[in-house]
Amino acid sequence: MIFLIHFFKPSTMTNFYPKALKQAVFAVFAVLLCSTLKAQQITKIAPGVWKIVYGEQEKIKPSDFKEAADETAMSKLPGGTETPDILKDIKFNVLNSGVIAELAMDPTERFYGFGLQVNTFEQKGLRREIRTNSQIIGNIGFSHAPMPFYISSKGYGVLVNSSRYVNFYMGSQHKLNEGQPKSDDNGNSSASTANALYNRQGRSSANVEIQVKGARGIEILVFEGPTMKNVMERYNLFSGGGALPPLWGLGFKYRAKNTFTEKEVLDFSSYFRDNHIPCDMFGLEPGWQSAAYSCSYIWNKDKYPTPDSLISIMTDRNYKLSLWEHAYVHPTSPIFASISPFSGNYKVWNGAVPDFSLPKTRSIFGDYHSNTFIKKGISSFKLDECDGAYYDEAGGEWSYPDIAQFPSGMDGEQMRQQFGLLYQKTLLDEYKKENTRSMMEVRASYLFASPYNAALYTDMYSHGDFVKMIINSGFSGVNWSPEVRDIKSEEDLIRRLQTAAMSSHMNVNCWFLKNLPWYQFNREKNNKDELLPNAKELEQKVKKLIETRMSLIPYLYAAFADYHYKGIPPFRAMVMDYPEDKEVWKLDNQYMMGENIMCAPFIDGASTRDVYFPKGTWYDFNTNKKYEGGKKYSITMSLAEFPMFVKEGTILPLAKPVEYITPTTVFDITCKVYGTVDTQPVHLFEDNSTNFDYQQNKYTWLNLGWKNSKGSVVRDGKQVKKLYNIVKWEKVD
Ligand code: GAL
Repeated sequence: MIFLIHFFKPSTMTNFYPKALKQAVFAVFAVLLCSTLKAQQITKIAPGVWKIVYGEQEKIKPSDFKEAADETAMSKLPGGTETPDILKDIKFNVLNSGVIAELAMDPTERFYGFGLQVNTFEQKGLRREIRTNSQIIGNIGFSHAPMPFYISSKGYGVLVNSSRYVNFYMGSQHKLNEGQPKSDDNGNSSASTANALYNRQGRSSANVEIQVKGARGIEILVFEGPTMKNVMERYNLFSGGGALPPLWGLGFKYRAKNTFTEKEVLDFSSYFRDNHIPCDMFGLEPGWQSAAYSCSYIWNKDKYPTPDSLISIMTDRNYKLSLWEHAYVHPTSPIFASISPFSGNYKVWNGAVPDFSLPKTRSIFGDYHSNTFIKKGISSFKLDECDGAYYDEAGGEWSYPDIAQFPSGMDGEQMRQQFGLLYQKTLLDEYKKENTRSMMEVRASYLFASPYNAALYTDMYSHGDFVKMIINSGFSGVNWSPEVRDIKSEEDLIRRLQTAAMSSHMNVNCWFLKNLPWYQFNREKNNKDELLPNAKELEQKVKKLIETRMSLIPYLYAAFADYHYKGIPPFRAMVMDYPEDKEVWKLDNQYMMGENIMCAPFIDGASTRDVYFPKGTWYDFNTNKKYEGGKKYSITMSLAEFPMFVKEGTILPLAKPVEYITPTTVFDITCKVYGTVDTQPVHLFEDNSTNFDYQQNKYTWLNLGWKNSKGSVVRDGKQVKKLYNIVKWEKVD
């Protein structure tokens, strides 16, 4: 049975049909239960973004909270005119258990994405359950920022515009009437021996199947390529463009012990300045509040008697202050009474759960935070616990249940998927009103998060997974913070710090450590003041490492400007840049940082690892040793060396490290010119670096060039104050 499907704006869909017609449509659906229906109309909603809807639409969808798309930039991407093939043959079905969409799958096709997946990279043959959860249970798709959005190696992306738990079967199941399964790209068909079964061969069913449980309809968006990188550029621009952090947000960050008092914070913070170790942000953990679980959002007067003075001294010392909190509002909070009517019908830790999908709720919570903290000089918040650990906490109280009801009409399931994103939006909107950029930390996020300046973090701690999450962040439009906290050894400390330095957010989270982790990494001994005999030696190594990060800031800032204006993920899988190279299709322990640097972290005690170099010549960042690409090498690196490799033809702008970044900072830059082939045009981005004036065209691109053994700088734009001073050119052959 074939139906004509019509397309409406999500918000008008439910009001469009007269009631009687709606009932008639339902009746027909009931009769046709289990029959496969084919959608026939497809609409283009932005350059290269196509929408297909089927059945009764959900009232509230992720796109309702989306920022405006940058359609001008989207229209400059290749493609965008022809209906993607994948859309032409989608089959839909409504079962009692929910709606199903079936999409064609080529046996040689590979899939990536599903948001910030933790322990998987290539997704073909897997079943994914897209559900926000702080505990990553097994390998089923749960994550802090899972997303019903995958990207195909054939150069398109499929997004289910739903806040419900969505299940994806990525060729993981075989239907009885399917005939013989097609072979996958390794020539495997179905498993018929125990060996084949356990080696997971033959995962090659004909189709991708998507289920939105309980729903009677579905909306799917398809993002065109032609390459996977183009898909992500389009997605990020459609979401509103990638977030441009304030420049200080790329600096080094330290979060101090939960129990610290105001005096201890002040004493401790002088450490970085006295020892000339760079640090831009200082974070306070739960102890700053009078009630933390749930949150009062009031200073604990016993421990922090004069918060205004603390803010002013820390500001004078050029620290940005960040406050830990979560969104469950304690009965003693000044906003408890006003926010309760705009909250869900279940408590968490005795606190109200604000319905941030409502503008009124956002304004109650936002105004209070603005007047009490933001306007007084708090630069950032760490938004904890917004993912919920409900799933494996039989006691429940770690989150609201799925059966919760919110005043907007959302239920607990929908709210769990959207909560972290809406929470970020609530506070970032307040910074925007002050024309100030923030860079926050957040433990949950969802679709269309690209424009939000925040980095995801976790309580899990596998270094290997952390690297995978940097890579998967490029398929998700989020930043990932592989923060350093529990440390096993000196070597673990340095290698983890290196990974943090090669990420969007370099954070050391010492919420349970009294002393610096490089003075003693063992938690118990640290808190008993039993410091390492070589603490001072280690300190020098850490200092150098943080300085390397500081020298990369101009390069990283330009990568983030490309994220904002062109949608290019600043951190991404090798397969995005080298889609034709088979060797990188499953490579989940190396990644690109910006256009020119490849990172290959050393993890779990390794001092030697295999590094694959794609075509071209590459240079070791530390020694300038050359590697010819198209090959794998076994690389050994000492702890003093950074596992970074620079592409031939790069002009790498390296800054003289500063101890902190202020609005008057000007970086002295040395441009390193790698190799003999023509250099690629490389640019730096200059703007005010702390506010939103760049949105009024107040910025300048610095185009760096190298010709006839001479460097050139061409400034193009309207920013008057310089951020960079190009002082030196160095040739690396
Ligand atoms: C956790 C969080 C940690 C730390 C701790 C304080 O939920 O992930 O980073 O902030 O709370 O209680």
